[in-house]
Amino acid sequence: MQAELSAIQEQAIQEIQGATSSPDLEELRLKYFGKKGVVTQYSRKLGTLSAEERPVVGKMINTLRDHLEEVLKTRGQELARVEEEAKFERERLDVELPGRQPRRGHPHPLQLIIQEITMTFLGMGFSVAEGPEVELDFYNFEALNIPAEHPAREMHDSLYITENTLLRTHTSPVQIRTMEKLNPNPVRIIVPGRVYRRDALDATHSPIFHQIEGLLVDKDITFGDLKGVLTVFIRKFFGADREVRLRPSFFPFTEPSTEVDVSCVCQGQGCRICKNTGWIEILGAGSVHPKVLAMAKYDPEVYSGFAFGMGVERIAMLRYGITDIRHFYENDFRFLSQFCL
Ligand code: PHE
Repeated sequence: MQAELSAIQEQAIQEIQGATSSPDLEELRLKYFGKKGVVTQYSRKLGTLSAEERPVVGKMINTLRDHLEEVLKTRGQELARVEEEAKFERERLDVELPGRQPRRGHPHPLQLIIQEITMTFLGMGFSVAEGPEVELDFYNFEALNIPAEHPAREMHDSLYITENTLLRTHTSPVQIRTMEKLNPNPVRIIVPGRVYRRDALDATHSPIFHQIEGLLVDKDITFGDLKGVLTVFIRKFFGADREVRLRPSFFPFTEPSTEVDVSCVCQGQGCRICKNTGWIEILGAGSVHPKVLAMAKYDPEVYSGFAFGMGVERIAMLRYGITDIRHFYENDFRFLSQFCL
């Protein structure tokens, strides 16, 4: 029996010392001390022994158990240390590693243009007004002296929502909405906003685009005031050396109406931008039509004013040399990241 127990001890110690992980070690503990464990079974056999043998063998088993438990404990501690070190190594944090640089956002080029133009007019005492993109036919057309059946409606390929609501085709309806609100006070507003037309998307057309509208109504406002304000704006935006040219035009809500051109950077040399004309058309404008003033309950005998409207995409394309309007809407980061404040 003694020889058997020493053999068990020897084998157990070898196995325990050879264990390479805590779960392995736990398996060995069960192998020797579990319910059906080797040592446990010897303890059970004690009852079958004679009264003289029992205390002797019992003592030997106790010694074996104490010894193996000690070896298990020591190996357990060793493995725990090794495993903890491995875990630290695995989860190592290099606190000196440089942080990841977050990508910086960029303002959208249309937003940059809107902001710059708006700021220029704020500097001349204008304030910003806005209106709904889903507009009543009344504000988009009727009150702007474009009655039903008026041929000017055909210039605007409208997107109707119901019989008398549509996606606004220009920012001009905000003229009327603001005059109604401010009446009888003077009006001096700039209106940036999104407008809609039934156009197919190509390099120069988009069914959704942006306009900036301007409106000034007060006593004794002349066409000269319009030319003065626009010249200040154009020289600030395009350059102090630029010339401004007004050509007669037609809009139902202004009389007289004009198309405003700015002289090209090529200074008349002729280039692709101005198609060799030396001039670039940038906005439509005119004196507010007396009928429009009357519609908004401003007495045309007392009040007068001017209005203008420009396409933001067109101006942004000129400013940045962009030849395809679709770039503005595709949100390609390679395009957008080229624009900074
Ligand atoms: N609303 C006109 C357009 O969309 C532009 C315009 C605005 C013209 C104000 C004159 C005065 O074409």
